[in-house]
Amino acid sequence: MSRTPVTVTVTGAAGQIGYALLFRIGAGDMLGPDVPVRLRLLEIPQALKAAEGTAMELDDGAFPLLAGVDITHDARVAFDGTNIALLVGARPRGPGMERGDLLEANGGIFGPQGAAIEAAAADDVRVLVVGNPANTNALIAQRHAPSVPAGRFTAMTRLDHNRALSRVAGHLGVPVADVSRVAIWGNHSATQYPDLTHALVAGEPAAARLDRSWIEDDFIPGVAKRGAAIIEARGASSAASAASAVIDHVRDWTLGTAPGDWTSAALPSDGSYGVPEGLVCSFPVTAEGGEWRIVPGLDIDDFSRARIDASVAELIEERDAVAALGLI
Ligand code: NAD
Ligand code: LMR
Repeated sequence: MSRTPVTVTVTGAAGQIGYALLFRIGAGDMLGPDVPVRLRLLEIPQALKAAEGTAMELDDGAFPLLAGVDITHDARVAFDGTNIALLVGARPRGPGMERGDLLEANGGIFGPQGAAIEAAAADDVRVLVVGNPANTNALIAQRHAPSVPAGRFTAMTRLDHNRALSRVAGHLGVPVADVSRVAIWGNHSATQYPDLTHALVAGEPAAARLDRSWIEDDFIPGVAKRGAAIIEARGASSAASAASAVIDHVRDWTLGTAPGDWTSAALPSDGSYGVPEGLVCSFPVTAEGGEWRIVPGLDIDDFSRARIDASVAELIEERDAVAALGLI
C-alpha cells in the first residue's frame, strides 16, 4: 500500500461514540478498503489513560489500514495536518444546567478547536461536529476558522436521516434500501423536521402508501425524539448508531452519494429555502467530488414550511445566544 495515510482526528476519543467509531475507521469502513489512515485522538487530560486503553485495543485489532495512533490533550497537536476532523467530545448537560450554560460550556471547547483547525489543519480539511448542540457547536468552530471554506464545517443529522429511513421501512414492511429521498431539515434537536414529502419507496411516491396521521403523530415525533427514547432505554445516549452515522456521513462526503438519491447533513446555509445565510442547518444534500450540494428546487408545502421555520427559529435563537456570550 503506497498511498499517504489520511489523517483523521477524533475528539472525545475515550467516550462511548469514540469507542464504537475508531474501530470502524481502522477497518476501512469510512474512507474505503484501500485508504490507509493515521488516527489522532484528542481527549481531556483526565481521560488520556482511557484513550490509551482504546489505542491498545486498536493495536490489537491489527488493522492493515491503520498507519498509527497518536494521543494528545493539545488541540494544536491533534489537528496538525488533519484531513478529517470528527468533533465528538462535548460537555454533556448536567443537573441544573440550562441550555445557555451548555452553549457556553461548549463554546469554550469548539471555539479553541476551530482556531486550532484554522492554524494547523491540512488545506483540504473536512469537519464533522457530532457533540451537542451539534449545529451551533459547528457554527462556533466555523467562525473561528475564517480561512477554511465555510462549507467544510458540517454537523451531523445523518443519524436522524437513518432513523427516518428505518422507521418508514419498518412501517411499510420493505427493505431499508427501498426507501429514498427522505430529508431532515433544521436542528439536530426535537424541533427537527423529518420530511417524507418527496420520499420514494421502490421508486414510487411514499406518500401514497402513508397515512397523514401516521406521518404527523408517529413518524415525525418518533424520529425527532428518538435520541431521548434511546437514553431512556439504554441509560446512555446513542453511541454505536451515532458512530455508524459518522461513517456514513464522511463516506458519502468523500466518495459521493448514490445516484438518484440524497441524504441529510447540516451545513452553513447559502440562503436556500429561506434559511438565513451562514446558519448551520440540516438540508437534503448530495455529494460529489468531495463537496456537499443542497438539493435545489424542491416544492415546500405549507406544513413543511411551518416545520422548517420552527426549527430554523431555534437555530437563530442558539446563534443569538452564543453571539451574546461573545462566542462567535
Ligand atoms: P461521552 O461522554 O461518552 O464521551 C465524550 C468524551 O468527550 C469524553 O471522553 C470526554 O472526556 C471527552 N471530552 C470532553 N471535553 C473534551 C474536549 N474539550 N476535548 C476533547 N475531548 C473532550 O459521550 P458520547 O456518548 O461519546 O457522545 C459525545 C457527544 O455526541 C455528546 O455531546 C452527545 O450528545 C453527542 N451525540 C450526538 C449525536 C448526533 O446525532 N449529532 C448522536 C449521539 C450523541
Ligand atoms: C441522539 O440523537 O441520539 C443524541 O443527539 C442524543 C440526544 O441527546 O438526543
